Amino acid sequence: MSNATLASITELVRENATTDNAEVLQWVTEVAELTQPDAILWCDGSQDEWNRITSEMVEAGSLIPLDKNLRPGSFLARSHPADVARVEDRTFICSENEADAGPTNNWVAPDAMRAELMPLFEGSMRGRTMYIVPFSMGPVGGAITQLGIEITDSPYAVLNMRIMTRMGQQALDGITPGSEWVRTVHSVGAPLVDGAEDSAWPCNDTKYITHFPDTLEVWSYGSGYGGNALLSKKCFALRIASVMGKNEGWLAEHMLLLKLTNTETGKDYHLSAAFPSACGKTNLAMLQPTIPGWKVETIGDDIAWLRPGKDGRLYAINPEAGFFGVAPGTGESTNPVAMETLWGNTIFTNVALTDNGDVWWEGMTDSVPDHLIDWQGNDWTPDSGRPAAHPNSRFTVPIQQTPSLARDWYEQDGVPLDAILFGGRRATNVPLVAQSRSWNHGVFVGATISSEKTAAQEGTVGELRRDPFAMLPFCGYNMADYWGHWLEMGEQLGENAPKMFQVNWFRKDEDGNFMWPGFGDNSRVIDWVIRRVEGEHTGVETAVGTIPAPGELNLTGIEEVEKDLGKIFAIDPTSWLAEADLTEEYFAQFGDRLPAALTAELDALRDRLGK
Ligand code: GTP
Ligand code: MN
Ligand code: MN
Repeated sequence: MSNATLASITELVRENATTDNAEVLQWVTEVAELTQPDAILWCDGSQDEWNRITSEMVEAGSLIPLDKNLRPGSFLARSHPADVARVEDRTFICSENEADAGPTNNWVAPDAMRAELMPLFEGSMRGRTMYIVPFSMGPVGGAITQLGIEITDSPYAVLNMRIMTRMGQQALDGITPGSEWVRTVHSVGAPLVDGAEDSAWPCNDTKYITHFPDTLEVWSYGSGYGGNALLSKKCFALRIASVMGKNEGWLAEHMLLLKLTNTETGKDYHLSAAFPSACGKTNLAMLQPTIPGWKVETIGDDIAWLRPGKDGRLYAINPEAGFFGVAPGTGESTNPVAMETLWGNTIFTNVALTDNGDVWWEGMTDSVPDHLIDWQGNDWTPDSGRPAAHPNSRFTVPIQQTPSLARDWYEQDGVPLDAILFGGRRATNVPLVAQSRSWNHGVFVGATISSEKTAAQEGTVGELRRDPFAMLPFCGYNMADYWGHWLEMGEQLGENAPKMFQVNWFRKDEDGNFMWPGFGDNSRVIDWVIRRVEGEHTGVETAVGTIPAPGELNLTGIEEVEKDLGKIFAIDPTSWLAEADLTEEYFAQFGDRLPAALTAELDALRDRLGK
């Protein structure tokens, strides 16, 4: 690039800059010099800005406005058919030392990765606008809050970031000279040169989702899809934040966050739960109890940051400001709260379009429309023989629209946790609920979560995969060190530590049917969990933890489940011992980084199973 152009880029950056923080200006200038955008927009997060960007995208054909009466302020986006999910094989942790990334992450040395990436980013924003998106994860100024900036050439990413984070001027003003903040850069990798026509969903066959934990940076290239493009989410709030948490004494987790109020005593409780992608976090976060006695309110559905408070208890926030939820399977009968939340102001991605300008997906309604436009823009009828919405289609919606939102979402310094649940999708073996024997046993249970693959990952749906703490794709450092960090947190918390439980809504009978009704009826399990925390229930000890004693699980109204309870809670020593062997194999890859406490838990489990 000529010096004249360089000089004008510096001008371009400064001209409209809404900060005078030299560090920010310098970084934005460097990225602009590298990517060579045509224009720069410093985002303020205003409604005006939203209106302008959505209008431009509608005009360009990359957003379809939905019917104003049916779904006000809402839009449909259709991705490129090959850009529909996170790309785990293109996701890299670039720590100085390979061992710090660990065997479960792809690792490339930071310098080598920069050498690979920079040529791709060079001129990658030509012909496009570069958006500067400052955002806060958590209430600005809160004890657990962190700040960041995403630079992106995707207006779709900007709109989603405005929903998913507290985005705009207040966040930028919070980034003061010398303060800690996370730098993230995103390009769809589709420069528009020589007047080339833009496509509705620009992206590149070459994709890189790269993390530099030592310098708190994310560089993402080639994809416009959620987890790859909304860098506040998995990239920052989990991968980078998990490393920050390890260094600073807190935890960044793939967890939902719930508030429960016992309506008889008025006492309230807070619970978090780690389930792998597409295993029911968003559903549980919006739980509508089917038993009396509980008020359940939503705080978060995907990510929780946990930090010990001054009183020695573990406090949690949902650092996000919106839901990026799986659409298929979300319907009046399964998640009425989500359906109500989606009344408007929502971006839908890869769902189907109805003839009257609304959206539809499998499981949204009991009846199937006669005609739709499918997620790829083609005519669709019920006998088309393919889903109308992509299995990983999503909605992006402001959390403040949730009718069940707890006031606690606004709490500056978070809420104290009483219980932590670990779960996955298991057709066999794992009982509906079992309380862990101790913090260390709970960490062992979290470390050994396995789940059947879903549409949120590439690969074969249904295959079993290990997903420790539901963090396999999201832990930014060595998984064994991460377990060690959890063990240390337990030591620090001592008596104040939340109680831990394993749950499984997905156990099936011989015919392949779910035996537990799930959804709203999961309130029955939560009821038992809280009563265990309170010491009201005695439970029954088993080899894998404490399960409800006969009569303790409230089945009023679903008495038909009673006959299956034996199978729902069955613990078969033979298959558990076989699973213990697999766990030993799984642990072996971590070598001497594996905490001894986990080996001890595995031995103790085998003993209890009667080996
Ligand atoms: P990410 O947002 O990708 O991290 O996933 P998530 O954990 O939020 O998953 P979500 O709540 O969107 O659930 C995805 C799928 O699980 C949907 O198909 C639901 O229908 C199904 N599901 C959720 N809860 C239950 C349940 O209690 N029982 C059964 N059988 N299915 C459930
Ligand atoms: Mn998730
Ligand atoms: Mn979710």
